[in-house]
Amino acid sequence: MFIQIADVLTAADLRLANTVFAQKDAFESGARTAGRIAKTVKNNEQAKPTGLAADLTTLIEKRLMKNDVFRTAARPKAFIRLLLSRYTAGMQYGLHSDDAFMDGQRVDLSFTLFLAPPGTYEGGELIVEEPSGERLVKLEAGSLVLYPSATLHRVAEVTKGERRAAVGWIRSLVRSAEDRETLFDVALALRQAEAAGDRALTDRLLKIQGSLLRRWGED
Ligand code: NI
Repeated sequence: MFIQIADVLTAADLRLANTVFAQKDAFESGARTAGRIAKTVKNNEQAKPTGLAADLTTLIEKRLMKNDVFRTAARPKAFIRLLLSRYTAGMQYGLHSDDAFMDGQRVDLSFTLFLAPPGTYEGGELIVEEPSGERLVKLEAGSLVLYPSATLHRVAEVTKGERRAAVGWIRSLVRSAEDRETLFDVALALRQAEAAGDRALTDRLLKIQGSLLRRWGED
């Protein structure tokens, strides 16, 4: 399941992001953390995980863990890695799928949280290959797209300006994308039942949700 979530960050968070990206010497070649194959197609920069950059990634993780839609869609067990990336003119990331394991943990979901307004740079779309064709994603600053890590995807060349993003990888409590989608639907139905004040339906759906989580979840 692909999901876009708007306004994950506040205006103050985005100002902190601007400060981090304006720092001199805070970034290094992105090839450092790329896998063997990805290294050959990856051409970007990423923040060294210290100082303000580390504060920002910690803050982003906190915002995501408090975001209901994100939690329901991803069912995160752990943030395996979260880093800040930058593409200036001429940079891109060629077609690849993300590693199945990072730091010994299975990678289920990937996300891109856009940190620069789309009008401030040209190119830089996240492009995901799907059976129906290519899906292009370029979102407002503070908005996020979450997608299964096994998809083939790339970042189009930036031709002008600077693409700024936080990218992350998640280990989910629920291994299967199909099962996560079913659980997401149950959560939506539950919300509707609650909003309608239907106590009996709410209880029934909570029971179903619990059963499915016990069946599909891993701790
Ligand atoms: Ni990737």
